[in-house]
Amino acid sequence: DILADHEIPHISKRKITYSTIKSSPFLAQQGTEQVRVPNVIVLVGLPARGKTYISRKLCRYLNWIGIKTKDFNVGQYRRVKVASAVDGASAGFFSPDNADALRVRTDCARRAMEDMGRYLQSKEGEVAIFDATNTTRERRQMVIDFCHAPERDPKFRVFFVESVCDDPKIIEQNITDVKINSPDYKGRMEAEQAKEDFMKRIENYKIQYEPLDEDDDYDLSFIKVINAGRSFFVHNVAGHVQSRVVYFLMNIHLSPRSIYLTRHGESEYNRMGRLGGDSPLSENGMKYARRLREYFEKENVRDLRIWSSQKIRAAQTASFLKDLAAHTEFWKPLEEIDAGICEGLTYEEIASRYPKQFNDRDKDKYHYRYPSGESYEDLVARLEPVIMELERQSNVLVVSHQAVLRCILAYFYNVNPSELPYVKVPLHSVLKLTPVAYGCNAETIPFNIDAADTHRDKPANLSPSRSVDEALATLPKRVVGDRKPPTSNNPPPLS
Ligand code: ATP
Ligand code: F6P
Repeated sequence: DILADHEIPHISKRKITYSTIKSSPFLAQQGTEQVRVPNVIVLVGLPARGKTYISRKLCRYLNWIGIKTKDFNVGQYRRVKVASAVDGASAGFFSPDNADALRVRTDCARRAMEDMGRYLQSKEGEVAIFDATNTTRERRQMVIDFCHAPERDPKFRVFFVESVCDDPKIIEQNITDVKINSPDYKGRMEAEQAKEDFMKRIENYKIQYEPLDEDDDYDLSFIKVINAGRSFFVHNVAGHVQSRVVYFLMNIHLSPRSIYLTRHGESEYNRMGRLGGDSPLSENGMKYARRLREYFEKENVRDLRIWSSQKIRAAQTASFLKDLAAHTEFWKPLEEIDAGICEGLTYEEIASRYPKQFNDRDKDKYHYRYPSGESYEDLVARLEPVIMELERQSNVLVVSHQAVLRCILAYFYNVNPSELPYVKVPLHSVLKLTPVAYGCNAETIPFNIDAADTHRDKPANLSPSRSVDEALATLPKRVVGDRKPPTSNNPPPLS
């Protein structure tokens, strides 16, 4: 029953990989060959309607779920082109009567579109987001013609996302929070003057604005997001990417709130340097749980929801806070990465028993799947419903584990897959995320309670011929707690 290290990958290959499942909905038949259909998401709307906010957030989400996406912001092309001219930012530049400026604006849109075309054509990415006002039918037709040009094979699939907002409070807040601090105004005008100028810019766009229309744009695919998600109008959705975009947009909201993330308190296994398992909290771990309670007593969070992993160490930590929460839930998807045959082992034991596995993981930690266990990529797929629910909710505390919290943080911070498994999430600290304009503020609250250091940096030496000793040398020197020899439940050493 004992398998040699080099035989192990065959077991893990029997599983269907997430990328196999994930890629199929993008495929289109072309003769006998299947090809991926590139998607272009085109934002539509007056200034200060959250188009850039939506673009960036969508970009982050799609990349996180493994769909390579890039946003192309035409405003940035304009700022490069007319950086020195003060007129390039003030309201007069956006007047429909300003023919010279209109030429510049069309040229900038074209350049952004061409970059977008190259990005998709070269297969660098699968989705491009075209972030501009696109408020006239003529401009939208220009984008469609570009995406459906005769030489494109396959043609780019186009989806419009229009943000419509007539709530003066939201618009005023957007201008005050974001617009007057944009490079168009910062250092050039006083806040009040910038605000006034921006309102004039909006009026200039309104003169020509032609919203998407169910009848006039019958053949197009689009979603209208009305008053920051109070209502939606969805029309003619085609394909997997578009339906995911619609689902995502219907779940996000702008209400102020905070998301708190913490690992469970230190566990007995953490002290021994052992992976996974289901051990209880150590003495220091219990101390942390008590102090965490004190912290939340002081925070006095309104309608706090606690989501905890079902593992004993997490549930124990969360149980200290139960009566402070409006609701506590124990979620299976929040459980730690399943280390398969390596569960319960220390890194040192893995390196000596399964040197090939240990090296393979270091070479590509994100995609590496533990035999009979999971990869970080699997974990992201498992956590997608958690992210969607986090987007929908208000104040939430997540009590989970190192690898899981790395994946969640990567979503909020746009960390790429190669760096994701190395994000530092120390024990005994809380991370408080509070959404602001285009991203979120993060505050780390360390608790001064001793804990094992379970982080292992990305090793510098990744040569395929790395010996076991060299692999072992990449492990942290500091031995925390008592690393007991493996019990009979652990796999025996391989000769
Ligand atoms: P511009 O055309 O000048 O580039 P924009 O439409 O891209 O403007 P953003 O820069 O994205 O506007 O505005 C950011 C603000 O929009 C954020 O403060 C965010 O809270 C808010 N916002 C996000 N989504 C929406 C929405 N659906 N409707 C209105 N405002 C939104
Ligand atoms: O060591 C604590 C732990 O949560 C283990 O249970 C888990 O296998 C590991 O961290 C994940 O971190 P890494 O992917 O860096 O090994």
